[in-house]
Amino acid sequence: MLKIVVCVSGGGTNLQAVIDAISNGSITNARIEAVISNNPGAYALQRAKDHGIAGICISPKQFENRECFNEALLKQVSSYQPDLIVLAGFLVVIPEIMIREYRNRIINIHPSLIPSFCGTGYYGLRVHEGVLKRGVKVTGATVHFVDEGTDTGPIILQKPVMVEEGDTPEILQRRVMEQAEWNILPQAINLIANGKVTVTEGRTVIGRKENKEV
Ligand code: GRF
Repeated sequence: MLKIVVCVSGGGTNLQAVIDAISNGSITNARIEAVISNNPGAYALQRAKDHGIAGICISPKQFENRECFNEALLKQVSSYQPDLIVLAGFLVVIPEIMIREYRNRIINIHPSLIPSFCGTGYYGLRVHEGVLKRGVKVTGATVHFVDEGTDTGPIILQKPVMVEEGDTPEILQRRVMEQAEWNILPQAINLIANGKVTVTEGRTVIGRKENKEV
């Protein structure tokens, strides 16, 4: 049984998609041990509570400096001995020590087709603003492992979404969530939980069970 810790900062609709997929059996062999938020007001914490999952807030404001926060975050996460850490709209830079300790065991959902509209500064609505500004016709979402770079880790799953005439960043954000994020995040977790994701030389191979590195 894959033990998951989900890290969130906001509304938690991706968290909800994972909770639902576990309860309806689209994700097997996995359970959420805890939800951790840096934001005390995150609605995601309420969602955790509603489903009997431990919800913990650990805010940088509680600590003297970033280093102390990073240490506390790692300690909190590690107290659940997770097999997988899921960043579902977590607006915190993951400390390098955590990336090293959980190599290929941290995944993130990004609301574009990486390597477009990703990297520093591309988060939340800014991603969709960038898409509309550039005028691309297809966008989407990506689930990837987290490495030391910003949105540079091995890609697990991607799903395209059409940009439509008259889209605003908000409308597009919603469509990307509905048509892509809420599908591929649970799918990726299910693949990992069932030993179907291997990482070799910075790329993932999906569907092979032998030589599992994850
Ligand atoms: C999603 O668009 C996710 O891709 C991004 O932050 C948003 C989180 O939404 N990184 P929610 O909290 O899951 O509703």
